Amino acid sequence: MTASPQTNLHPRANDVGDSYWLPFTAMRQFRSNPMMFVGAEGMHYLAADGRRVLDAMAGLWCVNAGHAQPRIVDAIREAAGRLDFVSSFKMSHPAAFELAGRLTGIAPEGFDHVFFTNSGSEAVDSALKIARAYHRARGESGRTKLIGRAKGYHGMGFGGLSVGGIGRHKRDFGPLLPDVAHLSLPYDHPSMGFSRGRPETGAQYADELQSLLQIHDPATVAAVIVEPVIGSGGVYPPPVQYLERLRAICSRHGILLIFDEVITGFGRLGRPFAAQALNVAPDIITCAKGMTNGAVPMGGVLLRDFVFEAFMAGPPEAIELFHGYTYSGHPLACAAGLAALDVYEELGLFERTAAIAPTWEAALHSLRGEPHVVDIRNIGLLGVVELSPRSGEPGVRGGLCAQSCYEDGALVRASGDLIVLSPPLIIEEGQIEQVAVSVRSALRQID
Ligand SMILES: Cc1ncc(COP(=O)(O)O)c(C=O)c1O
Repeated sequence: MTASPQTNLHPRANDVGDSYWLPFTAMRQFRSNPMMFVGAEGMHYLAADGRRVLDAMAGLWCVNAGHAQPRIVDAIREAAGRLDFVSSFKMSHPAAFELAGRLTGIAPEGFDHVFFTNSGSEAVDSALKIARAYHRARGESGRTKLIGRAKGYHGMGFGGLSVGGIGRHKRDFGPLLPDVAHLSLPYDHPSMGFSRGRPETGAQYADELQSLLQIHDPATVAAVIVEPVIGSGGVYPPPVQYLERLRAICSRHGILLIFDEVITGFGRLGRPFAAQALNVAPDIITCAKGMTNGAVPMGGVLLRDFVFEAFMAGPPEAIELFHGYTYSGHPLACAAGLAALDVYEELGLFERTAAIAPTWEAALHSLRGEPHVVDIRNIGLLGVVELSPRSGEPGVRGGLCAQSCYEDGALVRASGDLIVLSPPLIIEEGQIEQVAVSVRSALRQID
């Protein structure tokens, strides 16, 4: 980032020292050129050097209604002054129940219960534990196996990491959970590359689940967990009919289907949840991120009635689930969540997303044919431009592209050689164009 005279406003902004160890960050490289922000509003970040930068990542797939949404800011302020904290173990506060009701109100039919967590990773680990405990509660304690998918990202807890499918994330931390299997990525570049939206072919990848169940006795499998749209692993929309087939196989064998909607939840595909946008009903949904518009950490596990009810059979004085977090249903998070839902509704943000998605798709695919571009994938307001890696230097080209966009005033995310895009849902057509222009000019500059 080039410094401007306005750095004087925050003279210590680039003086980062080495006390803070950032997640998923090359620390030594970061320290040599720290990307620092000091404010945010709407579609923009304010960088420490005074520049306004268009946020084409919604923070980290979470600021769906744009930054510093006044209603959410006010709600958090008000909540902090009224009830700073209350345990959720054997007690609670009204806003937690109100939020639970609002969430189940927008969730797919039959999802009438929510368990609160503080992040997507916790939501996933909670969901996996609930799945196992559900089978146990019904007398099927032999159902413990979990099935994830290649390129799946389910957070960084040991459970999520175990079912996740990104090898580099797992390498340093084994052994992970036993009894985990993975489906392969439902993708084939020659036949599915540059698909606009969902690939028309590829449903047959779901039949792999049937093959896996010939190796793993279906009566030992607790759950299959997939992101409806693979997000962090590279934005892969599901082939048409793929999720439907997974659903059918799970149902046939009494296996719970979990949709990890940490990214797709809260409007990214034009409906509250991807399950609704794609018209496939899982049994459990995990969510986080857009739940509070990113303003306060919060996650949740949405459950279909039959899952919840299986736990409610014992003596009424017995705790049904020995699981939870100090900050589950935190008052500030609930206030932010309620305000976020108000804003989403008042702005009609989910419908707006569905309406603007074709413009987004056209802008992204206009980059086809630009230097280094080997694939483009999109769905809703999600997208990725995949670049060919430099020979012997994977990730360098992606990093240079993102840096060039940043200098040009657009924040995009480089994940290796993928340029990942997931803007706030309030993005205007002109800003979509700005993102495309920035990426195009970056691609033409870098080698
Ligand atoms: C699908 C999915 N699941 C889980 C997570 C983990 O969420 P968190 O970083 O809030 O723990 C993420 C984060 O990006 C995600 O994309």
